[in-house]
Amino acid sequence: MTSITTDEPTQAFSEDTWRDVIAAMDRTYSELVEYQELLEKQNTELDELRQFMNSVLSSVSDLLIVVDKNRNIERTGGAIRTILGPRAAAEAGLPLADLLETSEQGTLFEVIDQVMRDRDPRMVETQFATPDGPTPLEVSVSPRLDQRGRSQGVVLVGRPVGELRNAYLELEASHTALQQAQTQLVRNEKLASLGRLVAGVAHELNNPISFVYANTHALEKYTERFETYFDAVQAGKSRPELVALRDELRLEKTVRNLRTAINGAKDGAERVRDIVEDLRRLSAEGTGDEVSFDLMTTVRTAADWVARGTKTPVKIHFDGAVQKQARGNPGHVQQIVMNLVQNAIDALAGAEDPHVTLRVFDRDTDVVLHVIDNGPGIAEADAASIFDPFFTTKEVGKGTGLGLSISHKIAEEHGGALHLVTSAPGGCCFELALPAEEAA
Ligand SMILES: Nc1ncnc2c1ncn2[C@@H]1O[C@H](COP(=O)(O)OP(=O)(O)OP(=O)(O)O)[C@@H](O)[C@H]1O
Ligand SMILES: [Mg+2]
Repeated sequence: MTSITTDEPTQAFSEDTWRDVIAAMDRTYSELVEYQELLEKQNTELDELRQFMNSVLSSVSDLLIVVDKNRNIERTGGAIRTILGPRAAAEAGLPLADLLETSEQGTLFEVIDQVMRDRDPRMVETQFATPDGPTPLEVSVSPRLDQRGRSQGVVLVGRPVGELRNAYLELEASHTALQQAQTQLVRNEKLASLGRLVAGVAHELNNPISFVYANTHALEKYTERFETYFDAVQAGKSRPELVALRDELRLEKTVRNLRTAINGAKDGAERVRDIVEDLRRLSAEGTGDEVSFDLMTTVRTAADWVARGTKTPVKIHFDGAVQKQARGNPGHVQQIVMNLVQNAIDALAGAEDPHVTLRVFDRDTDVVLHVIDNGPGIAEADAASIFDPFFTTKEVGKGTGLGLSISHKIAEEHGGALHLVTSAPGGCCFELALPAEEAA
């Protein structure tokens, strides 16, 4: 620092001193300019930061309230007026209590005190006061700390519970709608397979019933002849007259025909009884009764019914064992086979020389059925999905895509398995394995 003394000669004092003073002034001035630039820069940064903060605060769509240690409002987000109404007293410095329903203050204040003490965020549902009455909000209370980690208050972030409830209700409603659609689809599938079944059964019953009917008709005719003859006997006709009448009515032949007609009607009735028996077995679902049954008979019945219910002329070959005892519920197994045969027949629509082969054989402790068709087969991309519920490549109304998924489940419930044999050349081969009776 330059000192100014009066003992120095006046000339020297003024020259040196002035030089020093001017230099010092220069330095001070340039320092001042630097400080000013720095200050301006910091001011700009501060301004930007404030703008950024404000834009964030105003675009937060949840309710946001910064509260100080004394539970007074410090800052609020822009959504406060949207959520709590335009008259929400959200000015800085006002007590938080002003925004709350009186009955709710205690609970929320308790939570705020706890959060400030433990420094752990907490969730609480509380009622805010709005011009429209109390509004429930789900509020998260988080601690707000200063640089040294001392508690400065809390930050409240809230969302109207109504919104969450509505979202939940909407979700629930669409879930219910989905469930109903699913039930409807399952019902349609059941109706469709019932329709196929009924068509098959109707066709099956038609034959023996018309047989019984025709024979009953003949019996009626024969009865009339005997009645005529007995009336003549009762009337005391002479022997020659009776002999003539017997020839005229061809009674000898009629007696023989009578037997045939009775046997025919009996056969027809027995066939009807068998069909009804089959039906009863098929409908014995849900009883869970496992019995020993001949898989080949079940396979034949299932295939016959499906084939008769369809218009596609398909040749069905039965291959392998004549009899194979399996263990399970024959009605359920029949459903699986009907599904597989129906799929095969569907796949054969428009195919050249369409045929289905049903092969039954033993393998270890299982009885195995192969359902083979010479249709177009299954695309590699689809093969992974065919057992998924509702997967179908058929047009709307032609298939629900439940056949294979239900069949797969039934097979597993039997301790067996159902899968696609991918190594089969051309067409399609499904394999159903069931525990053999001996093994069970
Ligand atoms: N033998 C087959 N040949 C070719 N594709 C088949 C065969 N069997 C099944 N699929 C394919 O697997 C899909 C699913 O079969 P699934 O039996 O589960 O349903 P669906 O037959 O479409 O409908 P639903 O059985 O409910 O009437 C079929 O849509 C078809 O694409
Ligand atoms: Mg099917």
